[in-house]
Amino acid sequence: MSKKGIVVVGSYNVGLFLKSDRLPQKGETIIGHTFHEGGGGKGSNQAVAASFLGSKVTFIGRLGKDVYGENALAMYDRYGIGKDYIYIDDHVHTGISVILIDNTGANLISVVPGANYNLSTDDIDKAGEIINNSLIAGFQLESNFDVVEYGITKCHSMGVQTLLDPAPAVILPDSIFPNITYIKPNMQEASIITGIEVTDVPSAVEAGKRLLNRGVKIVIVTMGEQGSVLIDSRGYERFPSMQVNAVDTTGAGDCFSGGFMTALDRGFSIADSIRFANCAAGLSVTKIGVIESLPSLEEVNTELGNQGLKELIL
Ligand code: RIB
Repeated sequence: MSKKGIVVVGSYNVGLFLKSDRLPQKGETIIGHTFHEGGGGKGSNQAVAASFLGSKVTFIGRLGKDVYGENALAMYDRYGIGKDYIYIDDHVHTGISVILIDNTGANLISVVPGANYNLSTDDIDKAGEIINNSLIAGFQLESNFDVVEYGITKCHSMGVQTLLDPAPAVILPDSIFPNITYIKPNMQEASIITGIEVTDVPSAVEAGKRLLNRGVKIVIVTMGEQGSVLIDSRGYERFPSMQVNAVDTTGAGDCFSGGFMTALDRGFSIADSIRFANCAAGLSVTKIGVIESLPSLEEVNTELGNQGLKELIL
């Protein structure tokens, strides 16, 4: 049987967004102008993004038994995400993120993971059959690293492709790289993981090559307004990002990952999946919030049509 569908293993964090003209400095209090509360967490965002773009998605994660967890479950109902592998922790709060945004859409994020850090290898094993049937599984680093490594290794042994979004970035052990099909760091994350300061395309390519040498199959470095760079054994290719008026860039990387997995699952090439993901991520920064700013398949298709990329319309 051919593998189909997407699994995402990872975090849910409620997001408390505070927007002000500029970001405060250390020790400074400033007055902002906009407050928003909404769903978040890198894993959950990626799962919802892919589901909203029409994919069959299974999310494996943990919530606390509190109002934030209840709101998350209601959100999964709205976005068609099955709840069979979303576990409720009786003793720990739901993950929380406080997100400060300035008028250019740039952010500072602080997360207290709560229930996310209780996600276990057992939680992953319970979804073994679904994982085995899936084309690709997405991981990030807002869960315990042992669980992430276990999940990635298990997927690899099952012949399921893996996408690691290495955020928040940490130095990774050598053992994990050969089990990663796709790694998708932004510039800061690529710098932390490789020790190469990534600021432009040549340094992104150098960092990408270092990751290939450690065993990763495909590297995609996302570079905000500078676009993204795909590095594989044949060389590299740069993809421009969409020019938009950014209101809030929070979750744009998650939207990219969700869009990328959706396009791969529909049979697109890696390059076309990046083009599709760039379009989805570009649309997502034009509104405040993460979930509320995710584009629907219809919106992405319209934008692809406007850009003359009719062959990418799903
Ligand atoms: O990538 C954006 C996400 O990072 C936010 O939703 C926030 O919750 C943090 O997890």
